[in-house]
Amino acid sequence: MNIYERLLNKEARLSVIGLGYVGLPIALEFARKISVVGFDIKADRVEKMRNRIDPSEELEPEAFDNCDIYFTANPEDLKKANFHIIGVPTPIDKRNLPDLTPVISASHSVGKALKKGDYVVYESTVYPGCTEEDCIPILEKESGLKCGEDFKVGFSPERINPGDKEHTITSITKVVSGCDEISLDNIAKTYELIVTAGVHRAPSIKVAEAAKIIENTQRDVNIALMNELSIIFNRMGINTYDVLEAAGTKWNFLRFYPGLVGGHCIGVDPYYLVYKAKEYRYHPQIINSGRFVNDSMGFYAAKQLVKKLIAAGKNIQNSRVLIMGVTFKENVSDIRNSKVADVIGELKSYGVNVDVVDPMANAKELEHEYGFTLCEKPSDDYDAVIVAVNHKKYMQLTEDDFKNMMKNVQNPILVDIKGILRNKIKDLQYWSF
Ligand SMILES: NC(=O)c1ccc[n+]([C@@H]2O[C@H](COP(=O)([O-])OP(=O)(O)OC[C@H]3O[C@@H](n4cnc5c(N)ncnc54)[C@H](O)[C@@H]3O)[C@@H](O)[C@H]2O)c1
Repeated sequence: MNIYERLLNKEARLSVIGLGYVGLPIALEFARKISVVGFDIKADRVEKMRNRIDPSEELEPEAFDNCDIYFTANPEDLKKANFHIIGVPTPIDKRNLPDLTPVISASHSVGKALKKGDYVVYESTVYPGCTEEDCIPILEKESGLKCGEDFKVGFSPERINPGDKEHTITSITKVVSGCDEISLDNIAKTYELIVTAGVHRAPSIKVAEAAKIIENTQRDVNIALMNELSIIFNRMGINTYDVLEAAGTKWNFLRFYPGLVGGHCIGVDPYYLVYKAKEYRYHPQIINSGRFVNDSMGFYAAKQLVKKLIAAGKNIQNSRVLIMGVTFKENVSDIRNSKVADVIGELKSYGVNVDVVDPMANAKELEHEYGFTLCEKPSDDYDAVIVAVNHKKYMQLTEDDFKNMMKNVQNPILVDIKGILRNKIKDLQYWSF
């Protein structure tokens, strides 16, 4: 009997290592069909999941219904499983270099638990070559087994989009790959158990790794182009969104918009590709330029506002700005790598007094990550308001709502990073990317 059949008969178990935005939905989806061990190093997160709480605040308690899953923070429990899926973070360090610490550490944990006939599938986003060159040697060393002969390895990148209830793990085509034909077939069949949209069988692990990294690199470069256009059009006094609306009437014009590129994926993954390209003695120009432009946009937005505050006759040291939204994107609680933090830091460096509100973000996490917290009682005398994130709640605000936030202030300014208030603002001084 092959691994797929053993999983189906519940003679074998599947484990998911790293139960975050990516790992928990996969673990629960599989647990509706087969027996699952959910492992995370953070015991407090595991405790929450045992109580049907998603620590990432994406899933409702009902998502835990009818699931055959055992949550654990003990790596010894991985020995009870035979098909391991690794979904741990792949961040970058301060120098924008890949930080493989979690993937390496997860490989050690799984390697110690490996038995003959087991499977290991990596889902974490990495550069082409990482699975074979960095991870498999650890699995082999820890287990004393040989990849391909004793155990199989694959790579299946994750494409979920937090906050998006339409594109979920089951409804997005899943790219799968394996270290040989047999493993590819078993990995594909296993994912087909949960992915109704079907799987795409990539010809090699490196192809699957590269496919994921270029999906996000392509988005990053295209958004960077929009950001650059927005800088140019700002100097020309033209609204970028008006230009994009007009150009978008052509059938083959690609729809991308300017904005702050933060979070754990788009602003991070291109650096993985850049790092690996250098090993092959190629210094990516376009990818690095895109990263440079996108990484500068928070500072750019702050500088534009400071100019406008000065032009409006305000004393920068006494000026007060309200920032609405600090998560890395709309309708999620994730603050990792939020570029709104750059806007805040830059404004503060000029001496501007900044208050921050966000209905989704966690005040304690903000304090820990960025050293500022949320304002509990925003006032009504801000010199400027920046709508930095297009949370659902903010989409419904009217010009009167913003006027109330800037009552009794001369020449109030509204900055609309995402252009969501375009055509709605008649009286306030308005600026968007
Ligand atoms: N979040 C997304 O939208 C998204 C989308 C596609 C791909 N990805 C990729 O998926 C991977 C996971 O991202 P995420 O957003 O789910 O991360 P996350 O931070 O939400 O979750 C990671 C989890 O792994 C745990 N963990 C860390 N090291 C561990 C270890 N050694 N052993 C066991 N558990 C460990 C953490 O405690 C955490 O619970 C990354 O490579 C990311 O690039 C993320």
